[in-house]
Amino acid sequence: MKGIILAGGTGSRLFPITKTVNKHLLPIYDKPMIYYPLSVLMLAGIRNILLITNPEDVDSFRRLFEDGSRLGISLKYMIQENPRGIADAILIGEEFIQNESVCVILGDNVFYGLDLTKILLQAQENKSGATVFGYPVKDARDFGVLEFGEDAQVLSIEEKPTKPRSNFAIPGLYFYDNKAVKIAKKLKPSARKELEITDLNREYLQRGELHGIQMGRGMAWLDTGTPHGLIKAAEFVEVIQSRQGFYIACIEEIAWRRGFIDENQLYELGKEMNMTEYGKYILSLLEGYSSK
Ligand code: DAU
Repeated sequence: MKGIILAGGTGSRLFPITKTVNKHLLPIYDKPMIYYPLSVLMLAGIRNILLITNPEDVDSFRRLFEDGSRLGISLKYMIQENPRGIADAILIGEEFIQNESVCVILGDNVFYGLDLTKILLQAQENKSGATVFGYPVKDARDFGVLEFGEDAQVLSIEEKPTKPRSNFAIPGLYFYDNKAVKIAKKLKPSARKELEITDLNREYLQRGELHGIQMGRGMAWLDTGTPHGLIKAAEFVEVIQSRQGFYIACIEEIAWRRGFIDENQLYELGKEMNMTEYGKYILSLLEGYSSK
């Protein structure tokens, strides 16, 4: 399975902060926002990843991650000239996807929870069709919305409805079989002139191939699109990390725990940042390992 992170767009809800800085490079507490969605793909065991961003920002991401090999993954970069919509990621990524399945994640989505890895594996068990998630929120009007039937099958899907049929918002994390490429090519721009991911998912629903997984109350899905959302997400990460001592979205740790890199590679990554708590945390993971 391939992975795509979408990190383009204008970030206009964060102006003036994002006038010159790509939103996905802004800090959420101690690390750039993009670490969080990248960590989700890595937790899902996905090592072949495409990052799509704006022409003026691609070099910043390249400087940050290079080709991904230091994390034991392969990172490619492609450009979205204009924010034509989330489903555009599938079209831009067509050559990268080849004949495989693909997981698309939005660069501003932060997830944290006990069941995350389990849910990610569950989604990958659906070999055919598309899998999306339903996350309970108080007000679903700002999101894609899923309606579930009695035996948890998906009944309907709508984008930002004024009267939502349920309180299940759809987070920006989608799993597709290879048919997504063909379906995406047939999509027409919506009223807001975007290729809507919800239209792609609706096509799967009409074919009887849209799976929905409900995220339980133990899962945190945080909004990072506004100044308020940003600071709340940062506070959340700070509270968990300082209380538990476990880091959220430490991509170096995940690479090591998943077996993408070994102890020596982890040590090198930690050593470079040993002036920060983040770097010290990475090095602390190696305590008890005799090689260093
Ligand atoms: O966050 C989840 C929601 O994301 C879903 O519930 C909605 O169904 C989905 O349409 C989307 O809603 P938004 O309209 O709020 O998405 P937004 O335009 O804010 O973009 C989300 C992310 O994708 C953001 O990190 C920027 C990036 N993006 C977006 C577009 C439209 C791109 O990189 N390129 C784009 O063309």
